Amino acid sequence: MEGKNICVVGGAGYVGLITGLCLSQIGHNVINVDVDHNRISLLRSGVSPIYEQGIDDLLKDNLGAGRICFSSNLGPALESSDVIFLAVGTPALDSGKPDISQIIKVAKQLSGCLRSYKLIIVKSTVPLDALEILLDILGEVGNEGQDFDVVINPEFLREGKGIQDFISPDRIVWGVESARAVQMLREIYEPIISGSSIATFGPDGNTQSRAIPVIETNRPSAQIIKYASNAFLATRISFINELADLCEEVGVDIGDVALGIGYDRRIGHEYLSPGLGFGGPCLEKDLLGLIGLTDNYANRSQLLRSVLQRNDSQVPELINKARNFIGGSFRQKTVAVFGLAFKAETSDVRNSPALKTITLLKHEGAKIHVYDPVAVLDHDDQSDLISCFKDPYEAVYQADVLMILTEWAQFRELDYSYIKQQMSSYNIVDGRNLLEPEVLKKLGFSYVGVGRS
Ligand code: UDX
Repeated sequence: MEGKNICVVGGAGYVGLITGLCLSQIGHNVINVDVDHNRISLLRSGVSPIYEQGIDDLLKDNLGAGRICFSSNLGPALESSDVIFLAVGTPALDSGKPDISQIIKVAKQLSGCLRSYKLIIVKSTVPLDALEILLDILGEVGNEGQDFDVVINPEFLREGKGIQDFISPDRIVWGVESARAVQMLREIYEPIISGSSIATFGPDGNTQSRAIPVIETNRPSAQIIKYASNAFLATRISFINELADLCEEVGVDIGDVALGIGYDRRIGHEYLSPGLGFGGPCLEKDLLGLIGLTDNYANRSQLLRSVLQRNDSQVPELINKARNFIGGSFRQKTVAVFGLAFKAETSDVRNSPALKTITLLKHEGAKIHVYDPVAVLDHDDQSDLISCFKDPYEAVYQADVLMILTEWAQFRELDYSYIKQQMSSYNIVDGRNLLEPEVLKKLGFSYVGVGRS
């Protein structure tokens, strides 16, 4: 396969970096462009600005092979590329609507570079009206189908498993309106679609090589598929969290219920783990995006809104459990928390339920000891009530309660009899049902989980 000249805009962000590295790994010539100069200089020196399993080797190999480079200068990169991936952020505004200002800014820069045909592939999650705005901007200087084509190609990458999800996706979705664009897409993705590229990814390529289904549809359908996928995952999580409340009241173990329903092939076992509610930069943003679309174009979004409502109650409910353990007030109390990121295997604290928990605990006057294997507290989240530790055993010193807020496997392997010796009181609130209640109770802990009898 002849490699294409590809530019990834937003190339130092999570989706853009993984997209650029995987495309270069399968043989394309890639320029990743980003406005974040610090991240670009880190990447140029072979250092990944994001924590992701397998990314360091992928960066080193492709940088060394000269298949990828990094720049903050968008103009020349657009000029020299035939394919432009837009992977810039579309975060939710306060109104809940997606912020498409970065997409519009890049579209305007792109419209100055249409001297040869460009295939523009939108990876960012964008609302229906954003596509029309993009086409209008480009249409002022060129003809769609002749000077450019625009394709919607949503990503389904999970943080912590992004490389695996790119090289061995459950499906590839593209919304496309021209035969020329389809041909180019097939050429770009051929090594992924055929499964032939898996082995080149080293340890992350241990996924079974298999042909990948391609969903070829129109552009609005591709956009709705993306929103609907994330909103459905969010719905499953709120469903199991609501059921967990019932289980606690009637002495049933939610783990047994999730296991029992999950064997039904129509349900499956994934996204049925109760906890602090879904966090991270995508699920809530896309759920809000779908709520907005549903409200604008159809009747009210009763179900989707209830998914959000249920999600918002998870963190306060967990804090109530901790408060009950320590006598009703956090004043003069020390709370140790394991986990700061929005989930395990990532350093990303964006929209993290763990961070929300810590902030609420701080407002109630608790002294908080934080341990997370990789995530760090942003400067503006720091406070003299919050101390971060590099060792979990130091973090629990003189704590009145320990809260498990992300599901790192290493939290399971810790020595809890030693942890008990360090603590002032022996309370554990397990927000991820990560630990074994019976083992901890035998050690003398008071233990509560989420939906555990
Ligand atoms: C998600 C989608 O999975 C991915 O396809 C999309 O491209 C981007 O958004 P990500 O944001 O990395 O990926 O997070 P994910 O692993 O899906 O978890 C989302 C949140 O739900 C996390 O806070 C996680 O802890 C929580 N979660 C997940 C649960 O509470 N219970 C579960 O069973 C699964």
